[in-house]
Amino acid sequence: MAHNPLAPEWLSPPADANVLTDGLWPASAHRSDDGAITIGGVSAPDLAARFGTPLYVVDETDARTRAVELRRAFDTEFARIGTTVKVYYAAKAFLSTEVARWMVDAELNIDVCSGGELAVALAAGVAPGRIGFHGNNKSVAEIDQATRVGVGTIIIDSPIEIDRVAAAALRHGIVQNVRLRVNSGVHAHTHEFLATSHEDQKFGVVFEDAPALVTAIRAQPSLNFLGLHCHIGSQIFGVDGFAESASRLLSLHAELLTDGPVPELNLGGGFGIAYTSTDDPSPITDLAAGLADIVAAECARRSIPVPVIAIEPGRVIIGPAGVTLYEVGTIKPVRIGDNTRLYVSVDGGMSDNARPALYGAEFSVRLADRVTDADAALVRIAGKHCESGDIVVDADYLPGDVAPGDLVMVPATGAYCWSLASNYNYLGRPAVVAVFDGEARVIVRGETIDDLLARDTGIAETAHEATTRSDNEMKESTR
Ligand SMILES: Cc1ncc(COP(=O)(O)O)c(C=O)c1O
Repeated sequence: MAHNPLAPEWLSPPADANVLTDGLWPASAHRSDDGAITIGGVSAPDLAARFGTPLYVVDETDARTRAVELRRAFDTEFARIGTTVKVYYAAKAFLSTEVARWMVDAELNIDVCSGGELAVALAAGVAPGRIGFHGNNKSVAEIDQATRVGVGTIIIDSPIEIDRVAAAALRHGIVQNVRLRVNSGVHAHTHEFLATSHEDQKFGVVFEDAPALVTAIRAQPSLNFLGLHCHIGSQIFGVDGFAESASRLLSLHAELLTDGPVPELNLGGGFGIAYTSTDDPSPITDLAAGLADIVAAECARRSIPVPVIAIEPGRVIIGPAGVTLYEVGTIKPVRIGDNTRLYVSVDGGMSDNARPALYGAEFSVRLADRVTDADAALVRIAGKHCESGDIVVDADYLPGDVAPGDLVMVPATGAYCWSLASNYNYLGRPAVVAVFDGEARVIVRGETIDDLLARDTGIAETAHEATTRSDNEMKESTR
């Protein structure tokens, strides 16, 4: 099939629009004999029939395996350079009590960035000492809660927090481990990174201010300074940005060593994943080896001991393990000059996947209930919201006979989709189902109309009562 001029340059028409492109799908995803996509041994039509659509589906084995393999890769590579690694799972990517337990089973720690995320981690039974607490504007109540329950570390994000965390620790009679988040001046995304000497952003403290702030932390008897923290961005494919940032951080780290211990260094998260056929992220083993080499070389250059390293990946663990299942409602061929794009509208949209609208993020799509020989057609998967920017997949090819009632699946939606979900247009947030060994179970239930109405104080009766009443009234009036 010829390239449709309406398609972006990077998107080539596939030889077969039914194929599940390598690297994009959960490990267990495949097409079963009837052509349906099957994940964790459960087929898309079965999932839709049992749980409805839209539906988030997580391949439990894949998520657990990714967590274990990542930790092992970093353990191995940092043992090679004579140190250890603390891996924190960045809960902002996706958090439920089940997922928190999968991460703990994989011997990961949990990084939270609000009282709500902390509450979920604690409800999952995560030991408080395994939790790192982030945030550029932690409330005094959140700091109090974190110190009271005994979180392992608090990441100080602004000068004012030094006193706030110190006072809370004092109140609870503890010495609180803290890190200081700094702007290394490095910003990375996919293949590019930008290194500036100044950073105009809300997270972390100005690099040059860090020594004085560490002195202030060390002066507080209720605080224990663990080291620096830096997060340089998201969806990063190579190690160059981390190398530049680690080099800058370790020069500061070395300077701080002259006045006291600095046992750890936290390099943040941000490892990228594939969303489309052209994304080619580095394997996690290469990233671990590359980061270890950089840290070893930078420490050797400064003749300082290699610190314990901490990292905080989220997306790379949970992103590829998740997919979203939708049902097609309407199909609209839109002619633009001599070319046509098929607008395929599904029963969800920007309320379950805000990333395209927020970041211009690209996704891919496949027909999930069947395979067909129909010629591929350029499609745009649109949501059902009252917003023209409500696009789930900007461009991909699907078999041209895609029809209302078909199921479509969007891969790589495990991270930053459910966690960013909203109730825009009063759509209920979909359920999250974990699939494992032929079984599917709800790990977060979907929202009902009653859930949506529950917080509106102007409503005296439940939606169910209202529906029953109007049904009865209708019957009365037609008698
Ligand atoms: C401080 C911090 N750590 C870790 C992460 C996780 O990043 P990712 O999910 O891309 O690995 C983020 C993401 O925004 C972050 O802000």
